[in-house]
Amino acid sequence: MIQEIIVTTQNQDGTTHIAPMGIREENGLVIIAPFKPSSTLENIQRNKSAVVNRIDDVRIFAGCLTGRKDWSLVPTEQISGHRLEAALSHLELELESFEDDELRPRFYLKPVVEITHSAFKGFNRAQSAVLEAAILVSRLKMLSEEKVEQELEYLTIAIEKTAGENEKIAWQWLMDKIETFQQENSKSETA
Ligand SMILES: Cc1cc2nc3c(=O)[nH]c(=O)nc-3n(C[C@H](O)[C@H](O)[C@H](O)COP(=O)(O)O)c2cc1C
Repeated sequence: MIQEIIVTTQNQDGTTHIAPMGIREENGLVIIAPFKPSSTLENIQRNKSAVVNRIDDVRIFAGCLTGRKDWSLVPTEQISGHRLEAALSHLELELESFEDDELRPRFYLKPVVEITHSAFKGFNRAQSAVLEAAILVSRLKMLSEEKVEQELEYLTIAIEKTAGENEKIAWQWLMDKIETFQQENSKSETA
């Protein structure tokens, strides 16, 4: 199973890098697989550690894909790093092994400590729709406009029926990004 979470890692200048990633667990280890090139990749290679943040504030997923990366952080407990203040729970990880690959290397990381901050409140369809739309945004260059429109039409139903304030904000950020991308694309096609 793949779980969509936010990875926080430390940049060389001491700031914290925030990136949505899909992680898997295998034999007690967490697998993070960043595509090359990636700041997350460089940071884990350098620091040999990472933090998994489990969140339900989907603005953070949408924000990371639309240039909004200024989310409140808190120092971690046992490794040197930071977690998101909004994390429902977080998992501090140390690098166990690395499998290199031209396209998508894999880090195998060992849990050091896992801390719960707030209860999981249940599934929400609009949150899932924002996640799906965030993935569409991360693949805009690879997808046709028709495919994007078709997917959005379906996802909009969950937004209209079940979104709270955070989901509506996150959705709007993503829709603005898609609109700007499509406008720029049509300009470059006619140029
Ligand atoms: C839900 C979600 C899951 C993602 N999972 C991955 C992943 O597993 N690996 C990856 O390289 N990028 C993934 N991405 C895209 C990255 O978050 C994005 O490209 C990011 O900028 C990674 O590069 P960075 O480490 O340089 O920031 C995902 C995006 C979303 C919205």
